[in-house]
Amino acid sequence: MNTELIIAIDVATPEEVMPVINSLPDEVSFYKVGLELFISTGPAAFIPFKEKGKRIFLDLKLHDIPRTVARAVKTAAEHGVDILTVHAGGGSDMLRAAAEAARECGDKAPKLVAVTTLTSLNNDDLIEMGVTRGLSEHTLALGKMAIDAGIDGLVCSPHEAAAFRKLIGDAPILITPGIRPAGGDAGDQKRIATPSMAVEAGSSFLVVGRPILEADDPREAAAAIIKEMRGA
Ligand code: C5P
Repeated sequence: MNTELIIAIDVATPEEVMPVINSLPDEVSFYKVGLELFISTGPAAFIPFKEKGKRIFLDLKLHDIPRTVARAVKTAAEHGVDILTVHAGGGSDMLRAAAEAARECGDKAPKLVAVTTLTSLNNDDLIEMGVTRGLSEHTLALGKMAIDAGIDGLVCSPHEAAAFRKLIGDAPILITPGIRPAGGDAGDQKRIATPSMAVEAGSSFLVVGRPILEADDPREAAAAIIKEMRGA
């Protein structure tokens, strides 16, 4: 599998974007835009990435009624978003509506990937929400439901990737955050994996933030991770 790197650019303003892009190797071509930057700037947040020919993973985790999500998917396509996240918990009808909206956008359609159980939730949280099956069973079931509804892929922990590959096969996209080079600082991530472990588990894209952006030499840190991914 030709696994690619996505840089999680967790900044608050567009002015902070260009120096980050310029501090990384040219071969880094995918960036994650999250809620903070998008709420502060709106679609203008995409401009510096597009100017540099970069692709955009817009992580807004859409979760609303089917019609609203379908219209948001179409709007994202108009703004040149390459990958967009939706919540599997929005249900099959919402997921199907999102997938159908993307199909109607043809070549401009973003790939849609579903988040399943947020990694900040544990079994007790699920029970509180009335979910009685175990966390991993619930997560796998939500992921399968999203793929069956026509969604292109999933965001998951590298520790879930191999189980998802068995369940949904090789075609769907799997995007895995929680990546740390061997010996790196875990920060607030609990279930981490090295780049090569994530590639071997079947990830299509690794999302990496702090291990690159907070490194003394971000260019070198990114190059080392890309090298490890290619060697896996
Ligand atoms: O800095 P770090 O490499 O931990 O950044 C990982 C990125 O992936 C962050 O933008 C974080 O919000 C995101 N993410 C995550 N774990 C999830 C889902 C998203 O770390 N389960």
